[in-house]
Amino acid sequence: MKSDEIGLRHGACPLKLTKMSGQDHDPGKEGTILDGSRFVRACLRKPVDRTPVWFLRQAGRYMQEYRDVRKHHTLVEICKMPDLAAEVTITAAEKLGVDAAIIFADLLLPLEPMGLDFEFQAGEGPVVHRPVRTAEDVLALRTDRAGDLGYVARAIEKVTAHFRDRLGVIGFCGAPYTLASYMIEGGGSRNYIETKKLMYSNPIAWSSLLEKLVKVLTEYCHLQVQAGADVIQIFDSWVGSLSLSDYRAYAFEASKRLVRAVEAMGVPVIYFGVETAGLLEQMAETGADVIGLDWRQPLDEGWRAVGHAHAVQGNLDPITLFAPLDVLEQRVGEILRAANGRPGHIFNLGHGIVPATPVENVQAVVRMVHEFRLEQRTGTRD
Ligand code: CP3
Repeated sequence: MKSDEIGLRHGACPLKLTKMSGQDHDPGKEGTILDGSRFVRACLRKPVDRTPVWFLRQAGRYMQEYRDVRKHHTLVEICKMPDLAAEVTITAAEKLGVDAAIIFADLLLPLEPMGLDFEFQAGEGPVVHRPVRTAEDVLALRTDRAGDLGYVARAIEKVTAHFRDRLGVIGFCGAPYTLASYMIEGGGSRNYIETKKLMYSNPIAWSSLLEKLVKVLTEYCHLQVQAGADVIQIFDSWVGSLSLSDYRAYAFEASKRLVRAVEAMGVPVIYFGVETAGLLEQMAETGADVIGLDWRQPLDEGWRAVGHAHAVQGNLDPITLFAPLDVLEQRVGEILRAANGRPGHIFNLGHGIVPATPVENVQAVVRMVHEFRLEQRTGTRD
């Protein structure tokens, strides 16, 4: 086991030490920088032998193996059985040959220890039974039971024990705004009317809600990092519903606090949202090591907006996975050419894989990304 592995997996926070040396964000200096997985290195904008690749929602219904497990268990049951959650995580990552495995869990799990019951209804997505609508509802939310989410940490331990230093293991949570929107709307939403009503009309209840979320999510991420997660991804999936002014006024500070708290645990943070072209510059101000880009903007434009002091992750349109291979290859090539070999690009989709996606096309993208880098290296280095 390499020295960085020992540190990362057992909480000695080697990345924090690296950060104190002031070199982790300087691509020009290698010196004392730790060796890490290809994926973790890219998160920190260190040079890599080829672009790492993984996929949002890489374990899911598009995969037969997952559908087989789902025949016998609900989604939440799988999440709460560490052996099974680890198996689903590992199977997907190995079948695809990706560079990182995201732990099988769901964004909404922290709602339960906070006192909100929810379920996933077939074809409808998540449903929260008694949504948060008033200051009293916010007051009733508990923040003392994040430890109940220990089953996610147990699953991470099993995944890291399996992969060791072969590939990066990603823990995750929702960002405060996105989770608040589920709590208030009671599920997915088109216009976020109830969320914005509370936000605009009761700023005190709103900030108290986000504060409670930051507390629970920080503790939840801590459990995941202690269990061996190499990187934490924070999903602010629905933050694109906010204007830039509202993002600044109502969501940014809470996200920033969460990002910084997780980084202080010694792991890189990926901060991701959808329809964020107008928010990217501000999102980067959270200090996240990596910003996840959706597919609506060319990668180089997104990266410029984020600033080259951050790494980026993305940004293939997930529906391109339904295109003929030659079209798919063209789009993959466009993204890699836009990244231009700059350290700090992690190839991914701009959002999650959808259920009917052909698995062989996802595998083909992994091959394309791997081969593209190899060709480029021989072409430029020798
Ligand atoms: O490999 C993986 O990424 C799987 C782990 C994972 C799941 N959910 C399992 C899941 C992850 C990373 C998530 C995150 C998640 N959950 C997000 C953020 C990512 C994003 O898409 O922006 C969000 C918004 C949720 C909430 C959620 N969970 C929704 C809206 C739905 C229903 C939508 C749908 O696809 O049906 C889920 C259900 C869910 N979570 C599934 C999976 C594999 C599919 C349903 C099932 O198996 O029953």
